[in-house]
Amino acid sequence: MTTTDAAEAPPPERLQEHFDATIARDQRIEPRDWMPDGYRKTLVRQIAQHAHSEIIGMQPEGEWITRAPSLRRKAILFAKVQDEAGHGLYLYSAAETLGADRADLTERLIDGRQKYSSIFNYPTPSFADVGVIGWFVDGAAICNQVPLCRSSYGPYARAMVRICKEESFHQRQGYELLMTMMRGSAAQREMVQDAVDRWWWPSLMMFGPPDDASPNSARSMAWKIKRHSNDELRQRFVDMTVPQAAKLGVTLPDPELRWNEERGHHDFGTPDWDELMRVIKGDGPCNAQRIQRRRAAHEAGAWVREAATAHAAKQAARGKKGAAA
Ligand SMILES: [Fe+2]
Ligand SMILES: [Fe+2]
Repeated sequence: MTTTDAAEAPPPERLQEHFDATIARDQRIEPRDWMPDGYRKTLVRQIAQHAHSEIIGMQPEGEWITRAPSLRRKAILFAKVQDEAGHGLYLYSAAETLGADRADLTERLIDGRQKYSSIFNYPTPSFADVGVIGWFVDGAAICNQVPLCRSSYGPYARAMVRICKEESFHQRQGYELLMTMMRGSAAQREMVQDAVDRWWWPSLMMFGPPDDASPNSARSMAWKIKRHSNDELRQRFVDMTVPQAAKLGVTLPDPELRWNEERGHHDFGTPDWDELMRVIKGDGPCNAQRIQRRRAAHEAGAWVREAATAHAAKQAARGKKGAAA
């Protein structure tokens, strides 16, 4: 049963009221339901940014596919990076249910008018980075995305269910890779610690600015697009990761990190918010490279899109002819 059958659609003057009641009852908004413009725009912006992050996120790890140290690691990494492409596709499809056009979204990404997660603007100089990305970045993605499975917009929530299952595999493969390296040579252990040192703070920044500096958060929470604030999710990630770091035998690079008995959570230091702002504005270590590569791939794939469109048109024309005969 969906929220509005055509027969029981509310009269125009009661659309807003009906929408508010649907949200209040924790029911889903579906593509054919009326929704306020702001809700639609916020969702398109969030889903597009999420889709772009999945696609751009293929690059830092993808660089290691040809250099993976064994066939097994290569196969795992290949599958992981391919999963991220799949996540991008589900999410672009979810954005299309809101009337967005995928080609237009891609243009906006390439022109820098739409963003992707700041984390993918950091380089991957060692193979340990593959493990740490799985552990931290996919781990942070899980913290962010599990609550989105209950997001008020149906197609987005349903896409997240499948994505989260795959993210949890990604996180485990990263952790398992690091565990293997930690059982190896001293040089391997150093590589892991170095990667942890470089990725820890950028991973905390993935949750976005602190709550008091996050202007869109309150609106998104009222609409139940988002279920928890940036700071709550960041805390959840820290609490989840600290015992994993201890088990792995690495040190998280934060002298202020300690268990707070009273709060029942870990206290931790403040990320460099100026750095986050610089990276978001395009001045991170790899921003230019990531976009340039995405643009080149888009241009190189133009003939495939043209051929697919021509083929689909031919099939449709044939179908019509067949039906008329
Ligand atoms: Fe993903
Ligand atoms: Fe992932």
